[in-house]
Amino acid sequence: MNEPILECIDVSYAYLDKFPALERVSMQVHAGEKLALLGANGSGKSTLLKVLDGLVFPQSGSFTAFGEPVTEESLEDEQMSQGFRSRVGFVFQNSDAQVFSPSVREEIAFGPLQMGMGRDETLTRIDEVLAMLDIAELADRAPFQLSGGQKKRVAIASVLVMNPEVLLFDEPTAALDPRTQEWLTGLIEDLSAAGKTIVHATHDLDVLDRIADRCLVFSEDHRIVAEGTPADIMGQRDLLLDVNLIHHHSRPFGTATTDPVTTA
Ligand SMILES: Nc1ncnc2c1ncn2[C@@H]1O[C@H](COP(=O)(O)OP(=O)(O)OP(=O)(O)O)[C@@H](O)[C@H]1O
Ligand SMILES: [Mg+2]
Repeated sequence: MNEPILECIDVSYAYLDKFPALERVSMQVHAGEKLALLGANGSGKSTLLKVLDGLVFPQSGSFTAFGEPVTEESLEDEQMSQGFRSRVGFVFQNSDAQVFSPSVREEIAFGPLQMGMGRDETLTRIDEVLAMLDIAELADRAPFQLSGGQKKRVAIASVLVMNPEVLLFDEPTAALDPRTQEWLTGLIEDLSAAGKTIVHATHDLDVLDRIADRCLVFSEDHRIVAEGTPADIMGQRDLLLDVNLIHHHSRPFGTATTDPVTTA
């Protein structure tokens, strides 16, 4: 396989030095792949995405992107920081933490203007993403007044407008209605088909084979304990029980009701 574009080696991180979130995590992301991060609540998925976006920095171990170390110091270099930030985009788990401008149009314009994109190109790109996300009619609304699903679309638009190579999505389909979930799953498939590299944290095991080529599974003690294709991972019932991705009463894989595990 080609060189990874993103690589964590032995990354550990604890918030405030006392709340562990990642324990010796090593992982790679290859260009063009769709990688899913799976794990129970609190296992470390969002924290790993924050490392991959250069928002938090490993306390031990290293994170390298496009062949260059990403550290607090290296990101102080304007050129390095602009290059990295334009190549990686992050759609947060909580859209409220991501949308802050007075109007949707300004929200989407923020990144491109910040990166020095010209006014005309910015305006064209904004119209493109408004159409792509089907939110043109929201352009003049205040993002904070929108519904959760509408805010999610605005957050995605504000990332896609930058046209990054790598898209990090934190639980993109959580709290969306079924039609919107299906739409977003399709969007992720289309972005992948267009050559984007996608890393996403998810609890949505039903559509895993559509949105992932490969999965990494976190244990509740913040380690990566398994890696495989969606079919490999979904076939490992003991593993899924162990990491708290399914529970004894769930029957997501067509298991019979007489299954001793499910009736225990
Ligand atoms: N800002 C923070 N301050 C202190 N601890 C935090 C903070 N954010 C996360 N943590 C802790 O870090 C650990 C990993 O959290 P993280 O948000 O990465 O988990 P997650 O796998 O994304 O969970 P979820 O599925 O609930 O989104 C948890 O124990 C959590 O309590
Ligand atoms: Mg999370």
